[in-house]
Amino acid sequence: MAGVRLVNVWKRFGEVTAVRDMNLHIKDGEFMVLLGPSGCGKTTTLRMISGLEEPSEGRIFIGDKLVADPESGVFVPPKDRDIAMVFQSYALYPHMTVYDNIAFPLKLRKVPKQEVDQRVREVAEMLGLTELLNRKPRELSGGQRQRVALGRAIVRKPKVFLMDEPLSNLDAKLRVKMRAELKKLQRQLGVTTIYVTHDQVEAMTMGDRVAVINQGVLQQVGTPDEVYDRPANIFVGGFIGSPPMNFIGASIVEDDVGVWADFGEFRLRFLEDQVEALKEFGYLGKEVVFGIRPEDIYDAMFAQVKVPGENMVRAKVEIVENLGSEKIVHLRVGGITFLGSFHSESKVREGQEVDVVFDMKKVHVFDKKTEKAVF
Ligand SMILES: Nc1ncnc2c1ncn2[C@@H]1O[C@H](COP(=O)(O)OP(=O)(O)OP(=O)(O)O)[C@@H](O)[C@H]1O
Ligand SMILES: [Mg+2]
Repeated sequence: MAGVRLVNVWKRFGEVTAVRDMNLHIKDGEFMVLLGPSGCGKTTTLRMISGLEEPSEGRIFIGDKLVADPESGVFVPPKDRDIAMVFQSYALYPHMTVYDNIAFPLKLRKVPKQEVDQRVREVAEMLGLTELLNRKPRELSGGQRQRVALGRAIVRKPKVFLMDEPLSNLDAKLRVKMRAELKKLQRQLGVTTIYVTHDQVEAMTMGDRVAVINQGVLQQVGTPDEVYDRPANIFVGGFIGSPPMNFIGASIVEDDVGVWADFGEFRLRFLEDQVEALKEFGYLGKEVVFGIRPEDIYDAMFAQVKVPGENMVRAKVEIVENLGSEKIVHLRVGGITFLGSFHSESKVREGQEVDVVFDMKKVHVFDKKTEKAVF
């Protein structure tokens, strides 16, 4: 087993810079998810770690070993990096049985027959494929085929797994099931895993840590709780969470009572430690971007702490989307619109007015220019 380290890694394809000065340390045994929108450089990053692509600049280490460094001319080819990859389009050999598909990488490496047999049966047992070893891929369901692809990757006991959207071909229900299975398997094997996805739910549920990438630039690395509760910037705040965080332009003003986010139509009062941060970083009197997640906005009927004029405002209900477990409510105060995720028993109806409460402990302030979080 081994950790993986990227140091000042760049990748350029002609005019396009796919990866920009990436610094990332994936710990030994860790499940790291690379998360970001289409085209942000996830696959390129993975391909550089695997050796299918050479960085334009920077160094890559697997364990203590330098595997890529264009400056000193080091480039270890993929077959010598001791990694296994699973892709979205996991091509199984259609004419081979499940057994032979899983055994293939070992046979390629001339592993003795008896050991091959033992390892294939071990892996099949782990993945619940024992009963299916004699079948051909076309006789399997999508999920079973995906498990065979995984089996083929883990049978070699590599130092690192690289997975590029391995579940995206599966239907929603199976994906949820395979998500849990894959995570359990990774725990069991303890192999360092780098998993690429653009699906934030997959990232949050599977990763020990999540690396959020946008336009080739690493935005934030942290545990799922960290990136959710303390997004480093507007991009991370908006990308993680569904429905996404509300962003509203505000100015920070102070009066005899306290410090406020002033939206023109209404205002909200900051808590003490937030006031300290705003003062310390010089935001009094400044324009900022105010952020709050829909689930931190309540129907006043269900709010614990409501202080009229400080964390509460009367809003017009424009649309109610009933999801059963909650209600997504489109709200408007004058020209300002935002979403609230209300308790399923909230009685709000479209066209009505409702008192809504902002959980001020959960609000964020971002710098308008740099888009970085103040808190
Ligand atoms: N071989 C290549 N030649 C030129 N440009 C490339 C090449 N490979 C990738 N790119 C560009 O680099 C950028 C990053 O691509 P990459 O495939 O890493 O994105 P991704 O995050 O994996 O996206 P997706 O979620 O769509 O798979 C894109 O702008 C892409 O067009
Ligand atoms: Mg990709």
